[in-house]
Amino acid sequence: MDEERLLSALPEAGDDESSLRPQRLTDYIGQTQLKENLKVFIQAALQRNETLDHVLLYGPPGLGKTTLAYILANEMGGKVRTASGPSIERSGDLAAILSTLEPGDVLFIDEIHRLPKMVEEVLYPAMEDFCIDIVVGKDSGVRSIRLDLPPFTLVGATTRAGDLTAPLRDRFGIVNKLEYYDEDQLSQIVSRTSRVLNVAAAPEAVREIAKRSRGTPRIANRLLRRVRDFAQVLNDGVISLDVAQTALDRLRVDSLGLDDVDIRYLRGIIERFRGGPVGLEALASSISEEPMTLEDVYEPYLIQIGFINRTPRGRVATPKAYEHLKIAYHDQLFDL
Ligand SMILES: Nc1ncnc2c1ncn2[C@@H]1O[C@H](COP(=O)(O)OP(=O)(O)O)[C@@H](O)[C@H]1O
Ligand SMILES: [Mg+2]
Repeated sequence: MDEERLLSALPEAGDDESSLRPQRLTDYIGQTQLKENLKVFIQAALQRNETLDHVLLYGPPGLGKTTLAYILANEMGGKVRTASGPSIERSGDLAAILSTLEPGDVLFIDEIHRLPKMVEEVLYPAMEDFCIDIVVGKDSGVRSIRLDLPPFTLVGATTRAGDLTAPLRDRFGIVNKLEYYDEDQLSQIVSRTSRVLNVAAAPEAVREIAKRSRGTPRIANRLLRRVRDFAQVLNDGVISLDVAQTALDRLRVDSLGLDDVDIRYLRGIIERFRGGPVGLEALASSISEEPMTLEDVYEPYLIQIGFINRTPRGRVATPKAYEHLKIAYHDQLFDL
């Protein structure tokens, strides 16, 4: 794995995330407000002997959307069926999935903003009335039959809530954004993972990894695995602060967890576009990255830590970004 991918918030083949996923809501760290609300909704639904209302989870990759979908099924006592927006190409594919559901199951659709329009329309009555209309026969014998579905909960996940059509969004009773995690919460996640992986880590080392994880549990877990490798070879397997620092430095993880793409992005704005404002397309092409990846994966964190602003005229680097890159900040008016 090269260093750029090590720090990416996107999932990797070697991540083996399923073993690290908390199974119950009480083990799910952070996202406090969301968790407290979900507890109420779950309890209320269970008391009424109903399924949980459909849930839409949105936010940057690696923050725990998939994990939460599984937890919701566990809490409701159902199973999870998973699918992703682009994999459901025709309405027949969706009908096939829906017909396998049992009462109380969770249907998890990842990247739900990428569902084809035709498929989406089949989903509406499934969500609202637990039924679908299937067209059978051909020519003059064509007719539509209505198929009843068991009550189920749809959990949709997306990094781009804005790309969802209004009719689809409106059919979710519970809509929630996942937030970046703070250092304390990430420390708890790293501690928990080190227990699951059965590796000894000093509290200061745990905090150091948390600090450089970009607010993202997926990255925290990945860094812990790599630091563990260094500890195994350099320190009898014990993750001390010293080993953690050495490992993270050797992995070229910046003090804020910024990676090569973040740095090129910031330097791009500052050095090629005089600090901005610059349009996303122009910036992306100047550093040879996909605008969509920058927008979904990189910018949310840079905005979160106050390094860039999105203005109507484009992206602007803040004095904080200059300071981090050790570039002198000149007021733009002064520059002109
Ligand atoms: N709140 C949390 N508490 C503990 N671990 C978490 C939490 N959120 C995410 N994780 C861990 O981070 C990894 C990525 O989470 P995932 O649910 O796949 O993110 P997403 O679906 O939003 O991309 C998983 O291995 C999971 O164990
Ligand atoms: Mg996911």
